[in-house]
Amino acid sequence: MRITGSTRLAGIMGWPIAHSRSPALHNFWLDQYGIDGVYVPLAVRPEQLETALRALPALGFRGCNLTIPHKQKALAIVDRVDPVARRIGAVNTVVVASDGRLEAWNTDVYGFRENLRDIVPDWQATAGPAVVLGAGGAARAVIAALAEDGVSEIRLVNRTMARAAEVAHDLAAPRCRITVHPWGEREAALRDAGILVNTTSLGMVGEPGLEIELTELPVSAVVVDIVYVPLETRLLAAARQRGHRVVDGLGMLLHQGRPGFEAWFGIPVRVSDELRTAVLATLAPAGPAMAGAARQQRGSQ
Ligand SMILES: NC(=O)c1ccc[n+]([C@@H]2O[C@H](COP(=O)([O-])OP(=O)(O)OC[C@H]3O[C@@H](n4cnc5c(N)ncnc54)[C@H](OP(=O)(O)O)[C@@H]3O)[C@@H](O)[C@H]2O)c1
Repeated sequence: MRITGSTRLAGIMGWPIAHSRSPALHNFWLDQYGIDGVYVPLAVRPEQLETALRALPALGFRGCNLTIPHKQKALAIVDRVDPVARRIGAVNTVVVASDGRLEAWNTDVYGFRENLRDIVPDWQATAGPAVVLGAGGAARAVIAALAEDGVSEIRLVNRTMARAAEVAHDLAAPRCRITVHPWGEREAALRDAGILVNTTSLGMVGEPGLEIELTELPVSAVVVDIVYVPLETRLLAAARQRGHRVVDGLGMLLHQGRPGFEAWFGIPVRVSDELRTAVLATLAPAGPAMAGAARQQRGSQ
């Protein structure tokens, strides 16, 4: 790689940042498409986020990604926020616009949707109610995507009911009914469902497993786990064994990077098997070190 005065710059701000997979993702694309650009990890302390974001235009950066703990705080700093990101309450992609202003998006919505389309192109939003396990930041993006895509009923199941109720309120949409269910009723909620999505951290290396019996779930339903460390969670293995079509979490991570890359470097990119292999190789091997990598996965990027 040759870095010159005309090399385009982008990066990811987080604290800590060392374990982020985003540099591997974006630099793979830069290399693959022969673009004069570089994507760097930027260790930015929470109290310095505003200074760092405001410095982007002055430093000639095209923009950046944001990961933990900056995704919510940045909403109040940037100049323009995409309406969906505002409803979700978090942004993960910042673009320096031609007028020097900072625009922010949440590309997890795009990442979830594109991954689903990629892996199960014939899945229809009309296939039946969606069951979403979890009500954290990732659940908000998943629910926004499902509602935008035309799912008419979303059953939101969470351990903390108040959090689920808040999500249902914030993401209320005209043609989508979001109902909230206690964690103890997760199996009953599967009846007649067309898709099940795990957005909890359960099943991730270093976290407890996700205990759920799939008996009530129609075999035609698609099962998605957005956890990707490990890639094949116990939920996906059990679903596969029952004959469900399954979707793992790595594709969501890869697809969510596309809108930012395209805005910063000016070229549409795709998610290939080679890319999946390259990013998978950056995830720590199994063992104690994996727990550290898994904890970092909470940042998703
Ligand atoms: N594939 C991707 O691109 C991608 C993108 C974003 C996130 N993710 C992954 O998605 C997962 C969630 O991320 P997040 O940012 O939404 O995290 P978060 O905001 O911390 O939410 C975690 C969720 O898991 C639930 N949970 C945790 N422990 C539980 C337990 N013992 N029993 C029942 N529920 C439990 C929480 O329930 P309470 O509300 O009751 O605490 C909450 O709903 C992480 O594994 C993250 O890495 C993947």
